[in-house]
Order: sequence, then structure tokens, then C-alpha cells
Amino acid sequence: MAKFRNRAIAALVSLAAVLSAAAPSSALAASSGVALQRAPVNLQDAVSLQRGAHLFVNYCMGCHSANYMRFNRLTDLGLSEEQIKEYLLFATDKVGSPMTIAMRASDAKEWMGKAPPDMTVIARSKRPDYIYTLLKSYYVDESRALGWNNLAYPNIGMPHPLWQLQGATQLKVEEKQSHGHAVQVKSIGPGESGLMNAVEYDRAVGDVVNYLVYMGEPWKVQSSRVGIIVMFFLSILLVFVYLLKLEFWRDIKH
Ligand code: HEC
Repeated sequence: MAKFRNRAIAALVSLAAVLSAAAPSSALAASSGVALQRAPVNLQDAVSLQRGAHLFVNYCMGCHSANYMRFNRLTDLGLSEEQIKEYLLFATDKVGSPMTIAMRASDAKEWMGKAPPDMTVIARSKRPDYIYTLLKSYYVDESRALGWNNLAYPNIGMPHPLWQLQGATQLKVEEKQSHGHAVQVKSIGPGESGLMNAVEYDRAVGDVVNYLVYMGEPWKVQSSRVGIIVMFFLSILLVFVYLLKLEFWRDIKH
């Protein structure tokens, strides 16, 4: 019996280890080594999600689709169908249609070197902190075809999608001493200003990322609640299963 119990515990421990290893915990952008900034994700903040949806439709959907997201799902965020029609839809879209775009992937690839990926689940594949950092790491670079470069993704094909809001930020390179060596530290400094100040821009980027997270898992708000109920149910069930086990073994032993 004890042996069986030990084995069951060992199996549970290794399952927990596998699950925690699967949880992403990267603090650096994969390609560039730039430190990631924490995205202020809050799926309970409906106003932020509404602002994010508005920014997404206006500044991202020129190139990116969200083929697995329907406009009318945005009623989950507290928007009425009228508001969706008025603020988010272009002439041809119907509220029930998915967030598709007219640009052809092959054309986009020709213009920008790479086709813009679909955004429905981008926050799950690229992680929110990375996207937040990416949108705050653009700087003007005349040597690039489209005039922009990015510290978090050097030589990215996507030109700065929010430059009107942030302005023409410049690369700042400082020499710093580290362990007796001079090292170059790159950061983003202000340039020609845009429609927003730094605080407003951070909030706007936070809203877009919040919306991308929501879009990847629109059921998440409910699912965390369901998860708690399921765990509660399972723990009650465990008691009964254990009692049942005792009952079975009593007959076998005697
Ligand atoms: C002018 C077209 C265009 C617009 C507008 C645009 N993107 Fe992109 N985006 C691209 C292209 C092209 C790529 C692929 C770039 C590459 O991998 O070099 C891309 C890639 C991305 C990626 C993946 C980056 C990676 O590490 O692979 C994210 C995230 C992203 N875009 C977010 C956004 C968001 C958010 C907006 C709106 C605020 C937006 N994009 C607006 C063209 C665009």
C-alpha cells in the first residue's frame, strides 16, 4: 500500500514539475536581449479593453487580420452593437463578420519582407510583455526601407504602427562602465513629438496589448471562475473516491 501511495505522490510531483516548466517565464526578448517591460494586462478592465479594440481596428487592422474573432463578440466588453457599428466597423463589415482584412498576404510580403501574422492568438504565441516592449522600442532609422527599426526586434518588417501617437522616437546610445569595460547601452529617447505624451502612449500600448490578450482567450474571464468550481468539485469527489477505495480493499484483505 505504502509503495503504491509513494508512487502516486511521485507521479503527482513530476506532473507539477512538467506543468510549471511549461509555463513561460522568459524575461528577455528572444532575438535581441532587450529587457522586457511588464504589460499592464487586466481583463477585468472593460474600458481599457474597449480603447484597445478601437486602437486595434484603427492602427493594426490595416495589415493584420483577426480571422477567428467576430466583431459582435465585442459586446462581451460592454459595447452595444450600435457602438460597434458606429466606431469600429468600416462600410462593408457586418457586426457578425470576423475581423478579416483586404490586404493579400503575398502583397504584404512583397512590401514589408514578411507577411503580417494573424492577431487572434498572437498574445499567446509572442507573450504580452514582449508585444508591449516591442511597441515601445521603435526608433527612426533612415537606413531601413520603411524608415523604422526596433530594439526588441532588430530590422523588423513592420513599420512603427503607432508613430502618429508616439512621435518619431530616436535611438539613444550611452557608454557605461560595467566591470571595468565600456559597454554601449541602447535605449529609446524622445524625438519629434506625436499626438500623445509618454504617459498617454504607455497607456495606449497597454490597452492594445490588453485587447490582444483578451482576443486570444475571450473566455478566460469566465474560465478562471469555472476552474475554481471544478477544483472544488474534484476535491469533494476525492473524499468519496477514497472512501470507496477503503471499502473495496476491506473485502479483498479479509
Ligand atoms: C503597415 C502594416 C502593419 C501594421 C499597420 C501593423 N503591423 Fe504588425 N506586423 C506587420 C508585419 C509585416 C509583420 C511581420 C514583421 C516581421 O516579422 O519582420 C508584423 C508583425 C507583428 C507582430 C509579431 C512580431 C514578431 O516578433 O514576430 C506583432 C506582435 C504585431 N505585428 C503587432 C501589431 C500591432 C499591435 C499593430 C497595431 C498597433 C500592428 N502590428 C500594426 C505589419 C503591420
